[in-house]
Amino acid sequence: MTDTTEFVALIADMHLAPPETAGIDKPQSPEDLPARRDRRLESVLAQLAAGPAPAAVIVGGDCSNEQWFRPDYADHARQCMKRFPAPCCAVPGNHDVGHSAGGKRFDPAEVESATAAFRADWGGPWALDAAGFRFLGINTQLFGTDSASAREQARWLKEQLGKRTNLLRAVIGHTPPYFGDLADDFDDGTELMMLPEPARSAFHDALITHPPDLLITAHTHRFFVSRHAHWDWLGLPSTALGQDELWIPTDHFPPGDDHVGWLSLRRDGAGWNALMHYCGE
Ligand SMILES: [Fe+2]
Repeated sequence: MTDTTEFVALIADMHLAPPETAGIDKPQSPEDLPARRDRRLESVLAQLAAGPAPAAVIVGGDCSNEQWFRPDYADHARQCMKRFPAPCCAVPGNHDVGHSAGGKRFDPAEVESATAAFRADWGGPWALDAAGFRFLGINTQLFGTDSASAREQARWLKEQLGKRTNLLRAVIGHTPPYFGDLADDFDDGTELMMLPEPARSAFHDALITHPPDLLITAHTHRFFVSRHAHWDWLGLPSTALGQDELWIPTDHFPPGDDHVGWLSLRRDGAGWNALMHYCGE
């Protein structure tokens, strides 16, 4: 029987950057500056310190606003993330390790070197049992790449999902594979918010033999809960900027909350629930 007071804190899309990069680093909106991202993260840290301790903190990627092999960005994000209560696990996003295979800006060498740098700090893929869940943390940016680490991750994920357990199996990775199904085909900007082919099929293939109970993705900067054909789906909010500040059309996203914040995730009987906590300004 899981203690329902136990929860996991889910945090994503912090886009942390050194303060001196303001004006150099392209902001995603005029107000999206490193100091504001830090301020909003301070609000998360204060809320975590004031309340009951989470069973774990899990970060859903785009920890840093630039690739993890950039020491100035990685150092800043690392110092901030050290302040999360332990245990803390993280998966990388496109801003940490590069663009997805099949996308216009995919650079396999960049993904390999940034993934190696991220893994030196955070490992991965990883499994974590906490609060009645088994979290399987993966690097979505590896899917569809022709590398040994991509093949090994896909094999590992299938193997983990095939194991019998009474825990709810939650896969957490940064970029959604699609929003409806494999046939999703958009050219209005939505395509940037999900994996292109061949990454999409590779991710779907790793999930579909033994589908998870819950898929957790970030990248959309929107908190949403969706009952998908194969799994429950949870979209994580950003602590840095809400989807309402971005130019991406959201018609194809599941409906949700575009404010900045973080989630507490709990078991609820045989299922689960997620509660939004706002970051403030
Ligand atoms: Fe992001």
